[in-house]
Parts: sequence; structure tokens; C-alpha cells
Amino acid sequence: SNPTLLILPGDGIGPEVMTEVRKVIDWMGSSRGISFDVSEALVGGASYDAHGTPLTDETMEQAQSVDAVLLGAVGGPKYDDLDFSVKPERGLLRLRKEMDLYANLRPAQCFDALADFSSLKKDVVAGLDIMIIRELTSGIYFGEPRGIITEGNERIGINTQRYTESEIARVARSAFELARKRGNKVCSMEKANVMESGVLWRRVVTEVHEAEYSDVELSHMYADAGAMQLCRWPKQFDVIVTDNLFGDLLSDAAAMLTGSLGMLPSASLGAPMSNGRPKALYEPVHGSAPDIAGQGKANPIACILSFAMALRYSFDLGEEATRVEQAVEKVLADGLRTADLIGEEGVSPVSTSAMGDAIIAALDAS
Ligand code: NAI
Ligand code: MG
Repeated sequence: SNPTLLILPGDGIGPEVMTEVRKVIDWMGSSRGISFDVSEALVGGASYDAHGTPLTDETMEQAQSVDAVLLGAVGGPKYDDLDFSVKPERGLLRLRKEMDLYANLRPAQCFDALADFSSLKKDVVAGLDIMIIRELTSGIYFGEPRGIITEGNERIGINTQRYTESEIARVARSAFELARKRGNKVCSMEKANVMESGVLWRRVVTEVHEAEYSDVELSHMYADAGAMQLCRWPKQFDVIVTDNLFGDLLSDAAAMLTGSLGMLPSASLGAPMSNGRPKALYEPVHGSAPDIAGQGKANPIACILSFAMALRYSFDLGEEATRVEQAVEKVLADGLRTADLIGEEGVSPVSTSAMGDAIIAALDAS
């Protein structure tokens, strides 16, 4: 039977970019004979409008049962004054939590045609292709005790960095598995020099490596030095695995190596299901972009590249993923730009659908 895919377009530009992803999915079926059983449901504000909740139980169940979920974006000014319990973001948070998506994959990939767009020198970023894996469900954002207490006449803000060895081991496995599908190299980042959780992190990653993944090259780096190396010579890395806090910072910094928010895909993976595939949610890094929604200006590439990640990491279709990425590379090299990719020079922008159509044409020619 065909692999199953649940599409949750969401709000704002979410449905606009998802329309372009649909073209790629249809192309895969008609031109490559690779078909998916696609279902679609509401999430975020769109779900709230229809059902009074940002994610229905029925959609949650569907998400749990499919091979992969592809989400557009949620949120918008219309929903800003809603009660926290029904805010659009809660739909996304519920998906991540109930699917237990502990490994957040953030690629930093630089297409040659956009190398000038980066904040770094062209030779530092041209051809860059690295993956940062951030632990997403534990660490200092969740550890207890936490809170603001008063001692004497002073307030104290408290957070606790806490990692169990199983939490470290499972995200380490995600990193090694991924490295095997890429450049076979993992760099683990923590601060074992000053943090106990960092000492355990390094120890457990090393143990998992020795026991199960000794074919993958492993190195360790202190996260602050890692931040520096990421800016100095990012191409030295393949897969970087790190905790929730450091991953938050390092992935945002790495994102800016490559340019626009409209280009950045992501994936969040959980435990392997009975078919061996990890639980998986793919989504662009950007939000619902209310400032440009409904105007045909959105860049669909981040969402299309998120689907390419699904091809590679959920469906073992790495070659097809590369085909999609090369089609994106081709249209960029041909000079096509949505509005977000235009700097000073006077290129005129193409619309969301024109960008999608051009990517299909490039796929046809591949
Ligand atoms: P945003 O990512 O929606 O937009 C930031 C800026 O980047 C805007 O100027 C927007 O026009 C531009 N932009 C974003 N994606 C683009 C694309 N594909 N093509 C061209 N330009 C693009 O972040 P913002 O403005 O902070 O948040 C807007 C709404 O989205 C809020 O309601 C926020 O809560 C929600 N949001 C949702 C996320 C999600 O669904 N995962 C993530 C981030 C924000
Ligand atoms: Mg962040």
C-alpha cells in the first residue's frame, strides 16, 4: 500500500505554500510512479474557526496513524486575543507533545545561487549542507524546579537543566541514523567543562556510538566553540547534535548562514513506529506571515524542501529528495526570485504559484 501523508495547511500563507507542495506530490505520482495516500485536515486558527479548537481529537489520531505529517503554519492577528488554551500555536504544541517528537532537525543548506544573500562570505557558505539536531522535549525549558521565588528581600529566577540518559541516548540515535543517510559524521555539542548534564551528555553519546554506530565518525565540541566554528567554517560539519537550549541558539544562528526564512525547512522526529519509520512532522521554519498572506507573495520553497525532507527521512527516497532540491537549485540559478529573495538589485519578483510551476518544470526537465 502507498505511504500515508497527512497535510495540515493551517493559516495565513500556510495553505498558499501547501498548494505548491501539492503540485510536487502530484508530480511524484504522475511522473515517478511514487504515490502517497494524502489526507488533509485543519489545524490552528482554521481549525478553531470550524471546530472551536486548534486541533481536534480526530485530527490528532490521524496524525498518530500516518507515516508523516506535513504542516504549513499556524497563527495570525485574528487569533491574538483568544484564550491561551485555544490559541493556534496550541494545535502545533499538542502535535509535538503527543507524538513525542524529541529530535528537531534544522538543516542549514545554501544554494549556490543565493550565496550572495548570506550574511557571510560567499566561499564560506556556497554549497553548505549541514543538519542541526536539537533535543526538543527536555532540558532547561522543562526541568524542575523552576519558577521565581523570593529569598530574603530578593527575587530569584530558577530553571533546571536536567537530562536522563535515555533522553540523551534516543536523540543521539536520531543523529547517528541521520548521519548514515548523509555525510556519516556527527559532532556533539554541550558544555561538559562547566555543566554536569554536559558531562553525562558526552558520556552517553560516546556509549551509544561505541555500542551501535562505530561506523559513523563522532567528535565533541563545547557549544560556545561550536558557535564560533559554525560562523568561521560551517562546512566542517555534517550533523550536529545538541540539547534544547544550545540547539535553539545554534539552529537560529545557522539558519542565517543561508538567507531567507522563506527557504528553511524543518522536521521533528520521534520514536520509530512498528514499520520502522520515525514518528514525523515536517514544516517550514517560518510562520503564517500575515503581512503578505493572500497576496501570492509567499515563497513556497521552505515548505517544498520540508516535503523533500519527508521523502528522505520518512520514506527512504533520498534520490527523489535530491531531485526536488536540484529543481529548486535550478530555478534559483535561472534567476527566479520570490519577493523575500530580492535584495538591492532590481529583479522583479515572481508569485508563489509561478515559483511552484517553475519547480515542476525543472522537475520535468530533470
Ligand atoms: P513569520 O515567519 O510568519 O514572518 C516573519 C517575516 O518573514 C514576515 O515579514 C513574513 O512576511 C516573512 N516570511 C515568512 N515566511 C515567508 C515566506 N515563506 N515567504 C516570504 N516571506 C516570508 O513570523 P511572525 O511574523 O513573527 O509571525 C506571524 C504569525 O505566525 C504569528 O501568529 C506567529 O505566532 C505565527 N508563527 C507560527 C509558526 C509556526 O506555525 N510554526 C512559527 C513562527 C510564527
Ligand atoms: Mg528559536
